[in-house]
Amino acid sequence: MKHLMILNGPNLNMLGAREPDIYGTDTLDDIEAMCVAHAQKSGTGITFKQTNHEGILVDWIQDVFMIQNQEDGYHGLIINAAAYTHTSLAIHDALKLLTVPIIEVHLSNPHEREDFRHHSFIAPLASKIIVGKGAQGYIEAIDALL
Ligand code: DQA
Repeated sequence: MKHLMILNGPNLNMLGAREPDIYGTDTLDDIEAMCVAHAQKSGTGITFKQTNHEGILVDWIQDVFMIQNQEDGYHGLIINAAAYTHTSLAIHDALKLLTVPIIEVHLSNPHEREDFRHHSFIAPLASKIIVGKGAQGYIEAIDALL
């Protein structure tokens, strides 16, 4: 059985209430349910997590490293690091541990927003970047990994 980790960064727990004109009205629970249901069709397991804390994202990336590619480990990582995308060398360094494919997802398209959202510390390590597709971007990321 394949298993994917999906990690979400700060303020994504507020989806639904947070700037719905930019991020849409789906809550993070809605997105998790969509991802789990979609992955189940191909017998794929999903671990879906959110934190507001940079170091916790680093810990969870290291968890992927510890069991990547093992039979009951993780076979890919989908990450929306939210604002840490644009600031976190620590997350960049943690992602360098991984040999499984990494997909960077953003609900909005950061490249069409403020200049400070244009740089990503994740992008150099991602095999694919999906932006501006809302919750559907997570589904596309699952399909790309499978
Ligand atoms: C985001 C884009 C980031 O620039 C922003 O800081 C977020 C969400 C997105 O999903 O569109 O929090 O990652």
